[in-house]
Amino acid sequence: MSSRFAGKVIVVTGAAQGIGRSVALRAAAEGGKVVLVDRAEFVGDVANEADGVAASFVADLETHAGAQAAMDFAAQTFGGIDILINNVGGAIRMRPFAEFEPAQIDAEIRRSLMPTLYGCHAVLPHLIARGGGTIVNVSSNATRGIYRVPYSAAKGGVNAITQSLAMEYADRNIRVVATAPGGTSAPPRRVARNAQGDTAQEQAWMGEVVEQVTSSTFLKRYGTIDEQVAPILFLASDEASYITGSILPVAGGDTG
Ligand SMILES: NC(=O)c1ccc[n+]([C@@H]2O[C@H](COP(=O)([O-])OP(=O)(O)OC[C@H]3O[C@@H](n4cnc5c(N)ncnc54)[C@H](O)[C@@H]3O)[C@@H](O)[C@H]2O)c1
Repeated sequence: MSSRFAGKVIVVTGAAQGIGRSVALRAAAEGGKVVLVDRAEFVGDVANEADGVAASFVADLETHAGAQAAMDFAAQTFGGIDILINNVGGAIRMRPFAEFEPAQIDAEIRRSLMPTLYGCHAVLPHLIARGGGTIVNVSSNATRGIYRVPYSAAKGGVNAITQSLAMEYADRNIRVVATAPGGTSAPPRRVARNAQGDTAQEQAWMGEVVEQVTSSTFLKRYGTIDEQVAPILFLASDEASYITGSILPVAGGDTG
């Protein structure tokens, strides 16, 4: 492992499982002082697994107060923040748009847009105080795709945050970038996206999504978590010092 992140304080949100967990553990192994933030209590166990310096913080990032508390904790624990990886998100339900209930639309926006919007807002004073820093937003290739229009809208918002914030804060030495993952294989989730579980109809719609994604992916397969982690950490590192405002598709050639 390299020491790309030696001396850097890195906050990773949604770090209890999936892509966020692997990003956090690899960043710690590469020398970062990592703060793993999640609303799942077991995020503390994940921080304990780190081969390096790591702390954890439990917060609901769908609230501004949660985002603020997480960033303040990181800055107090390690003396500042250099990098924020806004990873919380994920489609809760897959269904044709007309089948969404209004409350379900709101839930998708709360899950996949607000934690990034609040996270960026809450971290900015810390990055400015540090003289600069980097924000990596984990967006999605599903800004074009079937059966998850509210999620697509939320991630379109994440892309807009990335581009506008990069423009607005470049003169404060702050880079803002994003990856847009395509379909990614992962072990079974400890915390389900949809706490109510999926009905047979929802599983069938999900099957159609998998078919559509795979057929429009040049490489004809889902990516792995490691294939998502590598570009996220490249963009977070100083190796990407001339990249800002960019949204990098990591989707095997899929354009939706
Ligand atoms: N997995 C994929 O196929 C895929 C594809 C494209 C994009 N993405 C994006 O990658 C990111 C990670 O996806 P994943 O599949 O690894 O996620 P996941 O659903 O497996 O895990 C998300 C984590 O975020 C936490 N979380 C959710 N809401 C939270 C909140 N309000 N406050 C604090 N923590 C919260 C959960 O507890 C969980 O630990 C998401 O933004 C997702 O949209 C994933």
